[in-house]
Amino acid sequence: MNRFGETLIHWYEENKRDLPWRDTKDPYKIWISEIILQQTRVVQGYDYYCRFIRRFPDVFALAEAGEDEVMKYWQGLGYYSRARNLHEAARSIAARGTFPDTYEEVRKLKGVGDYTAAAICSFAYGMPCAVVDGNVYRVLSRWLGVEEPIDTTQGKKLYAALAGELLEKSVPALYNQAIMDFGALQCVPSSPSCMFCPLADSCVALQKGLVDVLPRKQHK
Ligand code: ADE
Repeated sequence: MNRFGETLIHWYEENKRDLPWRDTKDPYKIWISEIILQQTRVVQGYDYYCRFIRRFPDVFALAEAGEDEVMKYWQGLGYYSRARNLHEAARSIAARGTFPDTYEEVRKLKGVGDYTAAAICSFAYGMPCAVVDGNVYRVLSRWLGVEEPIDTTQGKKLYAALAGELLEKSVPALYNQAIMDFGALQCVPSSPSCMFCPLADSCVALQKGLVDVLPRKQHK
């Protein structure tokens, strides 16, 4: 293991949040959790996830439900197209009989982008797909000292490549969860506690005094 991945995973073992979608390898449950968490904070998403899974425990239950009931379980979460896409995708999965199990097929599901496809494929199937979300952008840009903006085509390509190189391919699910939690809890957007950071001695942004300005955005 490289030292970056090893340090993150060690940090994660000591600091991880106990979250219900982490106790499963069921791609359906992981998919539901990731769609809920797309525009929703973990504290709010937690109860919605539990209620949703209790009522719709598998993709067939969701596919068979009426649109009105699905929307009722989403009430208050906002971004309602997420629920409509979820329902539509559930019907197509139920029609084919099993949850898709290749990155390309997962990525084709309505409402599933690169991030969500990588999350499902790594968490459920252990595939070596690096997740790149806001937390990952922040951790990578700071630790590597990358000043390329994250909101350009070129920047996104660069970060995707760097994320793929740093991914710990022997334990992709563990590594992905670790880097996301590290960004959410330790390498936070403003005033992170770099004094207590296990990556401080090798963090380029810290050495250069760039922690507060990374990651950069072209369009603020
Ligand atoms: N945010 C998005 N996906 C998440 C996950 N799997 N765990 C914690 N926070 C998340």
